[in-house]
Amino acid sequence: MRESRPETGGRLLRTVVLVGMMGAGKTAIGTALSARLGVPFEDSDAEIEAASSLAITEIFERYGEAFFRDKEAQVIARLLEGPPCVLSTGGGAWIAPETRALLSARAAVVWLKADLDLLWARVRHKDTRPLLRTENPRATLAELLAARTPAYEEAEFVIETRPDWSITRTTDAVLARLTAAGIVETS
Ligand code: S3P
Repeated sequence: MRESRPETGGRLLRTVVLVGMMGAGKTAIGTALSARLGVPFEDSDAEIEAASSLAITEIFERYGEAFFRDKEAQVIARLLEGPPCVLSTGGGAWIAPETRALLSARAAVVWLKADLDLLWARVRHKDTRPLLRTENPRATLAELLAARTPAYEEAEFVIETRPDWSITRTTDAVLARLTAAGIVETS
C-alpha cells in the first residue's frame, strides 16, 4: 500500500535508512516503521542473500568480506533508486565512505544507538554474524562498536534504543523525529 496514511504515520517524503550495530534493532524497528508509514521495507542483507542464494555467513566463508562489501554497496545504491521506503542496512554498510556519502545525499539516515550490554544481550545467542565468530565475540563487538561510533555519529538522526523500550516505543521516537524534520508529512 503506497498511499498516505495520516491516521498512523503520515506520508514519507524520503527513504529512511536505519544504520547501527548488529543487534541495534534495525530490522525490527524498520519493519514496524514501514508498516506505520505504509511503505515497503527493504533489508540490504536479505537482498544480498536472495540475490546470491547464500546466507551471509556462507558469503563471508566462500568469498570473503570484501566481496560482501561490494555487493552491499551495489544493493544499497539500487534500493535508493526506488520510491521512498524504509531500508535497514547491515551494521558495516554505513562505514564505507562511498556508501555513507550516497546515503547522506539520498536518504534520511537514522542511527539506532545502543550500548554494548544491550547489543551483546541481543546477539550472543545467535550464530549468524560472521564477524563475531572469534574467540571472544563480546570483545570483538566492543572493538567494532568503538571503531564505528565516530562514523555512526555522522548520521543525520540519532535515536537511542533502550532495553526496556518496546519496538512500538522506539518506532514512535523515530517517527516523531522524522515528522519534526518534515521527512514525514502528516497534513
Ligand atoms: C555486519 C552486520 C550484519 C551483516 C554482516 C556484517 C557488520 O548485519 O551485514 O554480518 O559488519 O556489522 P546486521 O547489522 O543486521 O546484523
